[in-house]
Amino acid sequence: ERGRLQARAISGTGGGDASPYRWDILTIFPDIFQDYVAEGVLGREIKKGTVEVHFHDIRAYSKDKHKKVDNTPYGGGAGMVMTPQPIYDCIQAVKKENGGPVIYLTPKGKTFTHKTAQRLARKKGLILLCGRYEGIDERIIELCVDEEISIGKYVLTGGELPAVVVVDAVTRLLPQALGNKESAKEDSFSEKCGGKKEYPHYTKPREFKGLAVPEVLLQGNHAQIEKWREKGLR
Ligand code: ADE
Repeated sequence: ERGRLQARAISGTGGGDASPYRWDILTIFPDIFQDYVAEGVLGREIKKGTVEVHFHDIRAYSKDKHKKVDNTPYGGGAGMVMTPQPIYDCIQAVKKENGGPVIYLTPKGKTFTHKTAQRLARKKGLILLCGRYEGIDERIIELCVDEEISIGKYVLTGGELPAVVVVDAVTRLLPQALGNKESAKEDSFSEKCGGKKEYPHYTKPREFKGLAVPEVLLQGNHAQIEKWREKGLR
């Protein structure tokens, strides 16, 4: 099953003339992503061929005889550091296929926002580097990394979840990707919402556990609804 999902994730052949947005994700846990990207909007776009997601196992590039990818830190201290060689070789290989910037996911990076997602959606593709342990050898950042991104002021065990967050937030903004283009315009944090969270949503039934849908939404007066929704922004 995993193999099938991977094949699907990698071989988007839906047609359309624009070349697909290309993601290359470098990680020592390439399997973490498979199921997530095969579902929902992402899965649909991959099947349509508008987006391609390629996973690369950093360990496969290790020239160490035990395929080691980490080592103890110079200067001492807790934890391990990812060695530069496998990451460097992996990035060089991927750069032949993807001309996009190399982004390293790290809590030290600039905080990811909706604006960041909009900017990255204008690229043709991105290379995402996920770290583990205490981080990666600084020389990789110096030699290969164009941008460092954090998804928030907390420390996770690796860059894999942050990478998924970036893939998800950017992919749904791609002009070719969203079924209903209006819905991206009206998102929370979008310009139309003045950068605030979006208005409350209701669907059927009209009453649930004694709570009724606001009257204004039932009357079909679109000017009134618009006004209510603007006030409803929290
Ligand atoms: N790696 C570990 N924690 C992270 C965070 N908050 N953002 C991005 N990458 C990370």
